[in-house]
Amino acid sequence: MRHVEGVPSAKPLSRIGLGTWQFGSREWGYGEDYVAEAGRIVARAVDLGITLIDTAEAYGFGASERIVGDALREHDLRDQVYVATKIFPFFPIAPVVVNRGRASAERLGVETIDLYQVHQPNPVIKDGRTMPGMRQLQDAGVVTDVGVSNYSLARWKDAERQLGSPVLSNQVEFSLAAMDALDDLVPYAASVGRVVIAWSPLGQGFLSGRYDADNRPANGVRNMNPLFLPESFESARELLGTLREVAGNHGVSMSQAALAWVIAHPNVVAIPGASSIEQLEKNAAAAEIDLAADEVAELTRQARAFRRPARTEALKASLAARLHRG
Ligand SMILES: NC(=O)c1ccc[n+]([C@@H]2O[C@H](COP(=O)([O-])OP(=O)(O)OC[C@H]3O[C@@H](n4cnc5c(N)ncnc54)[C@H](OP(=O)(O)O)[C@@H]3O)[C@@H](O)[C@H]2O)c1
Repeated sequence: MRHVEGVPSAKPLSRIGLGTWQFGSREWGYGEDYVAEAGRIVARAVDLGITLIDTAEAYGFGASERIVGDALREHDLRDQVYVATKIFPFFPIAPVVVNRGRASAERLGVETIDLYQVHQPNPVIKDGRTMPGMRQLQDAGVVTDVGVSNYSLARWKDAERQLGSPVLSNQVEFSLAAMDALDDLVPYAASVGRVVIAWSPLGQGFLSGRYDADNRPANGVRNMNPLFLPESFESARELLGTLREVAGNHGVSMSQAALAWVIAHPNVVAIPGASSIEQLEKNAAAAEIDLAADEVAELTRQARAFRRPARTEALKASLAARLHRG
């Protein structure tokens, strides 16, 4: 497994990590059996050399952290893993951050959280009130590295000023279906030794080639995702065609090629979720794929031309479907 180079993380960061929003989260609709599968996914991920495992207190209201923690304990994997979790920033002033960080560590069953991230910027409470809590957790040995998520570049830099030491990472949506980070966050991370952690690197399966306008995934999360609207598949026709072609050149799946494109960018790691061990294994193997420079450039060109429908369109479609069902 390849690692990110030149970043001051406390442990090596695998270019492909594991996302665990799916664990214990009803909205993904994977059912009761998936809880046991999730534990096996964690163990197999570590076996494959994945170090970065990303969870959050918000996923399944703590269930995901517990599932990850149980798996680490059961298989004695703690030392091999760089555990990342997140505070949901409801009133994130310092004492709240400290309490919530300790609660996450307890659910995870770890003394130290390797990376503690602010899940999203709070529009009212600025980082000058949040980061002192992060610093206290670092000083107490409960947190090693600090990160943010869904932050603009300006706010990421400000968070770092407020912390007084590196804010190692910014976890943002980044894939062939979500390109904004390419303009500022990705070059910034590469230039100063920080990390962009790419969430939904497969566009929640939109880039897998498994779905189309007549075969859309049915679950709460993806019903709300405008990527799965028919007009989105229409706009992405060329992009998905090229992705299929590039995947064919390398004898890999479209999902693997989509991940290879994400991590072709320096200082970027991808954290795909997986509904099965088989998907996890394929995702981990994507770390070894080297796309040619012209393949990366062509995919980037087509991804820039893709027009993703607005989120309100997905909300309207979901509401209309419900009304139709009565
Ligand atoms: N910080 C944030 O605000 C934020 C937001 C969203 C997500 N995240 C994090 O990022 C992680 C990943 O994002 P995500 O789960 O939203 O989307 P994703 O990783 O793009 O998509 C995951 C889904 O794609 C399908 N898939 C995975 N591997 C595949 C493969 N090899 N071949 C075909 N299909 C495959 C699976 O669904 P099916 O098999 O059901 O099709 C899986 O549940 C999350 O788990 C979470 O940790 C963070």
